[in-house]
Amino acid sequence: MFSFNIYNPTRIVFGKDKISQIDKLIPKDAKVLITYGGGSVKKYKTLDKVKEALGDRIHFEFGGIEPNPKYDTLMKALDIVNKENINCLLAVGGGSVIDGTKFIKLAANYDGEPKELLTKGGSHKVKENKNINIATVLTLPATGSEMNSGAVVTCDEGKFAVNNPMCFPMFSILDPTLTYTLPETQVANGIVDTFVHVNEQYLTYPVDARFQDRTSEGILRTLIEIGQDTIKNPTNYDLRANLMLCATMGLNGLIGSGVPQDWTSHMIGHELTALFGLDHGKTLAIVMPSLFEVKKDAKRDKLIQYGKRVFDIESTDDNEIIDLAISKTREFFESLGIKTRLSDYGIKKEQIDLVIEQLKNHNFTSLGENRDIDLETSRKILENAL
Ligand code: NZQ
Ligand code: ZN
Repeated sequence: MFSFNIYNPTRIVFGKDKISQIDKLIPKDAKVLITYGGGSVKKYKTLDKVKEALGDRIHFEFGGIEPNPKYDTLMKALDIVNKENINCLLAVGGGSVIDGTKFIKLAANYDGEPKELLTKGGSHKVKENKNINIATVLTLPATGSEMNSGAVVTCDEGKFAVNNPMCFPMFSILDPTLTYTLPETQVANGIVDTFVHVNEQYLTYPVDARFQDRTSEGILRTLIEIGQDTIKNPTNYDLRANLMLCATMGLNGLIGSGVPQDWTSHMIGHELTALFGLDHGKTLAIVMPSLFEVKKDAKRDKLIQYGKRVFDIESTDDNEIIDLAISKTREFFESLGIKTRLSDYGIKKEQIDLVIEQLKNHNFTSLGENRDIDLETSRKILENAL
């Protein structure tokens, strides 16, 4: 196992009707900006519950943060933060709203043009000089953003990840009943996103990290167990509760500690979203099975372990286990209604050049646990995914 240093200060308040806890967790004298997306939280009355919990606290609202949140939109919220001396950002929504809110905090603490935090990197160096807390009410289990310090923001036709400890939420409310209103495809996206996050921290090469491996396998098996059922039974509390916890634990630092990681699926996936507008989860369902096929030699030991322990494949032929493990991964995504081929989304071979060009522009030229996924290998992965 590798050495590591883990820090996670986010309080998780989990369960039905826990929005009311906001009253206990946010100081009475806070000046709050509630951030939200395109309106689902208004339609389904989540915003009303949040405002009720805030009671007499001074608060403002900023809606309209779009999926794959845009830099320009977030800068409008920054104006309110500066003008009103906001000291608490309360994000109510999915990963996009939470990520956007984290970026607003980073921008408020940055001395230069905030765009540089995306296009020039270095967001991890921003020093916290304004006392602004972030809190979240999660409505879509998928990204893990509710308990991590990362955020992804769209700017100038690219998606850029930022990471800074000041982005950890102070607390997140996880009420599984808030997910009952999700469209089926968003639930499926969330299951795939979580499954892929776990695999990106698990399916590399063995380092005898037994706790991380067994925990990852536990999350993957749980997702396979509940995946179709939770889509078919949107108001089954326990199914949604299990999905929500898997999503949060899948990307909060725990299973990724002390192990090699391979974020290729996310890096290529982000370019597919930026260029073609595909949902985040769908891009991952396209890239990951193909990545496994192209890198099956480097990932050999872990693919065999994954086949045996996650899919219970019994065979004496290791090559057969690997091939079955990959095809079962693809079948799992498809069983949730998520297509796994570029052609399923109308993307043609000629358009792969655009993706490669963007990977090059963004310096994603040595991806993977061994840093050996160069542009040629990314091209192979994409062509194999057609
Ligand atoms: O905008 P509204 O009207 O709220 O509708 C949203 C949106 O259209 C809707 N929705 C959310 N909760 C709902 C609901 N509709 C009905 N009922 C509810 N309870 O769902 C749509 C998608 O929301 P979005 O927040 O975009 O989805 P998701 O949570 O999948 O977030 C995706 C974003 O997270 C980034 C992705 O790149 C993408 O930009 N990621 C962030 C990560 C992180 N911070 O650690 C890691 C992830 O891998 C990912 O890259
Ligand atoms: Zn993701």
